[in-house]
Amino acid sequence: MISWKNLDELEAFKKLSGMADKVKLTEVMAGENGAERVGKYCIPMAEGLLYNFAAKKVDDDVLALMEELASEAQLADKFEELYNGGIVNTGEKRLVLHHLQRGQLGKDVIADGVNKREFYLTQQKNIAEFSEKVHAGEIVNEKGEKFNTVVQIGIGGSDLGPRALYIALENWARKNNTLKMQAKFISNVDPDDATAILNSIDVSRSLFVLVSKSGTTLETLTNESFVKAAMEKEGLDPAKHMLAVTSNASPLANNKGYLAAFYMDDYIGGRYSATSAVGGAVLSLAFGPDVFAQILDGAAAEDKLASGRDLMKNPDMLDALIGVFERNVLGYEATAVLPYSQAMARFPAHLQQLDMESNGKSVNRFGDYINYKTGPLIFGEPGTNGQHSFYQLLHQGTNIIPLQFMGFKKSQLENDVCIQETTSQQKLCANVAAQIMAFACGKKGESNNKTFCGERPSSIIIGDQLNPAALGAILAHFENKVMFQGFVWNINSFDQEGVQLGKILATNVLKHETDGALKAYSDLLNI
Ligand code: F6P
Repeated sequence: MISWKNLDELEAFKKLSGMADKVKLTEVMAGENGAERVGKYCIPMAEGLLYNFAAKKVDDDVLALMEELASEAQLADKFEELYNGGIVNTGEKRLVLHHLQRGQLGKDVIADGVNKREFYLTQQKNIAEFSEKVHAGEIVNEKGEKFNTVVQIGIGGSDLGPRALYIALENWARKNNTLKMQAKFISNVDPDDATAILNSIDVSRSLFVLVSKSGTTLETLTNESFVKAAMEKEGLDPAKHMLAVTSNASPLANNKGYLAAFYMDDYIGGRYSATSAVGGAVLSLAFGPDVFAQILDGAAAEDKLASGRDLMKNPDMLDALIGVFERNVLGYEATAVLPYSQAMARFPAHLQQLDMESNGKSVNRFGDYINYKTGPLIFGEPGTNGQHSFYQLLHQGTNIIPLQFMGFKKSQLENDVCIQETTSQQKLCANVAAQIMAFACGKKGESNNKTFCGERPSSIIIGDQLNPAALGAILAHFENKVMFQGFVWNINSFDQEGVQLGKILATNVLKHETDGALKAYSDLLNI
């Protein structure tokens, strides 16, 4: 029997709260003890990845209390309830089924009279068949030419995850001869976004994937019209260039104005939709359906690990609990995501939505205000670029910000030069190792200004090379981490009421139904 309790009602949390000063990184990470920790506090993720948390403020005692907390908060039971089709998104009274797109973790889920796994598999099959026809030149433009570009039009979850994944694999696909079409993305309602993309492509040889789960998003529908107008100006028929990806209940569903349509449903949250048709269409067109299938396989393997009950074999749950410890016991307000991989340049942007739209909540799943902190502020940049930007604050600022590093032993293009006896990849990896230790142990300087206090915790996900399966596993890791944290905080991580008010006011502004300061701002902006 599952009981949904607030974090501050849990006995294990009360005990964990006494552990704030238990571990000093300046002590435990120094010398040979530190070396031992690096080997000890490291557990496997899927696809050969490792989750290393040696530089976090934990020891065996803290971890034992986290195990107690995981068990008292029934994290594994709640995940089981979710993947077996429970109505875990209570705010919207919906099932939460993104895991089912990549594997069957539990029972058959039948909803709306449909076996949901079969529904998702059918969509994947339809996308694969369509993509292969495009690649084979069986689906072509009006002049009989092959399409060479795919442009996704969507925003939020209909943009960030798929875009992050595309950028993450573009070079890998080029190197492995599986880059079938270049992909571009239009998201912002800023006309400069669509214009710049349209100017950078041959529109006549482009397929546009209109992606909106709701089918009502102002930015996306505006950009659709923008692109259609550009096509018509060139004498092209939009219906021969445009696909739709939407939920089966949206106003865009079953519309004859599209070359093809692929579906998700209301049980896939926008920010959790990268492994649905939302990511599937653009990624299958760009890289081929096999590559998309490898992403799904990596995600499924990580989901499987996340369903385990042993915390020390469940990197997603452990990462979640360490994050809760940092937020609610140590009082840290933010988390920086720092992939030492240029390919992951947009991954922090995806995680911003995933984490902050999911867990930026002040009420519990029953609608009552809670008395503890929930989701942290998430930001990040790829290393080493971030080092030359905001790391000053991370090292010496008045806030301690936990860090989530990622690093890979090999580059994707495997084209490197040796300068002063080291390759660029070695320099990249040397930097992340150095940063972990600098943050943890610090250094006494000749003045306060030159002193690093240390005690800045970090973890690192380490992989051999960023490939589709590893990427899928990393994607799922963070989805699962966010989900487990939502369970611990007793919030609903699957709705997003906080985005509604701004949308309503913007509509009022556009209709000139405003007064007071909103009217004054509208006038200032010449609307
Ligand atoms: O920003 C709110 C939001 O609903 C996100 O959750 C979602 O990812 C985005 O808008 C786009 O929504 P849709 O796919 O329905 O156009």
